[in-house]
Amino acid sequence: MINKILCGDAIALIKDVPDEHVNCVVTSPPYYGLRDYGHDGQIGLEKSPKEYVEKLVELFREIHRILKKDGTVWLNLGDSYNGSGGPGSQWDNKNTKGIKSGNFKKFNNPNKSVGNLKPKDLIGIPWRVAFALQADGWYLRQDIIWHKPNPMPESVKDRCTKAHEYIFLLSKSAKYYYDAEAIVEDATGFDGRKDTYFKGGVKYDGFNEQTMLSRGHERWRYKNLKEKGQQTHIMHEKRANGLQDELSPIRNKRSVWTVTTKPYKEAHFATYPQDLIKPCILAGCPENGIVFDPFMGSGTTAVVARKLNRNYLGIELNPEYVKLSEERIYNELGMFN
Ligand SMILES: C[S@@+](CC[C@H](N)C(=O)[O-])C[C@H]1O[C@@H](n2cnc3c(N)ncnc32)[C@H](O)[C@@H]1O
Repeated sequence: MINKILCGDAIALIKDVPDEHVNCVVTSPPYYGLRDYGHDGQIGLEKSPKEYVEKLVELFREIHRILKKDGTVWLNLGDSYNGSGGPGSQWDNKNTKGIKSGNFKKFNNPNKSVGNLKPKDLIGIPWRVAFALQADGWYLRQDIIWHKPNPMPESVKDRCTKAHEYIFLLSKSAKYYYDAEAIVEDATGFDGRKDTYFKGGVKYDGFNEQTMLSRGHERWRYKNLKEKGQQTHIMHEKRANGLQDELSPIRNKRSVWTVTTKPYKEAHFATYPQDLIKPCILAGCPENGIVFDPFMGSGTTAVVARKLNRNYLGIELNPEYVKLSEERIYNELGMFN
């Protein structure tokens, strides 16, 4: 079971995947009450957030089984408002049947109330899911904020325009595979604060230009060189020639990721940008490992996994999307796939 997309309901089909088969899971389930994907068995149209959360917990129990002991899950979720037609939209009690948007019905569920939440209340779906998964045994390791510089415009005057979603990092064990080096980022400016960093069991701290230069640690990399060994080698060579100013400082990746949304034009539903999930796959899955996505949609997870020399396994309910994904994988990777 490798490099293929199974067509059907994720909760049913995941049962065919062997135990501890995948290294990492990167996924974006249908958001609660946002869209009608027009298929029986779809997740997201439950009568209440409670049922939605229970459905995801049920699926994630199986994900726990197929994930290797040192595996991680990177779960992208957005929020919505009680009684609204989707994340960020306003409560509209006139429209209870659904709004036609593109090829999809925007789902407007009048029953969508959480306990005694009032219309206009933020439901907090991502955190409800995260806490439920934590209570079910997952380690909830981090809430990453996906900051969107180009959010959907909203005609609201009583709150800010929503410009973020979450990516939760969950693990099966306390210790897990996580390649921090693979996703280091450029350090912008020096604020003199301590920034602790571990490499090969050695603790480096003190994020300041002077100490890092004197240590000669490869946190200082030569700009634009991708190979770590090459960076270090060139760094030493340049340093010996007094060219320290050409080195750029790097730091452990921060938990706010600014990534522009780039909808995939063939798909009429929410796809996540390739750049958003690159760090998840680089840090969460070793080369030649398997990345699993139970909601494959247009195949973004598969495309990025293959581009980064990882394998994929996916499930998707809608056969048309499976076809779309396969075409996309072929178009983007061709015979190299
Ligand atoms: C938000 S989209 C995923 C988009 C994907 N990350 C991408 O970039 O293209 C969610 C997908 O889940 C699928 N889906 C909904 N219910 C499902 C179920 N029970 N089993 C498998 N897939 C399901 C929908 O058809 C939709 O394609």
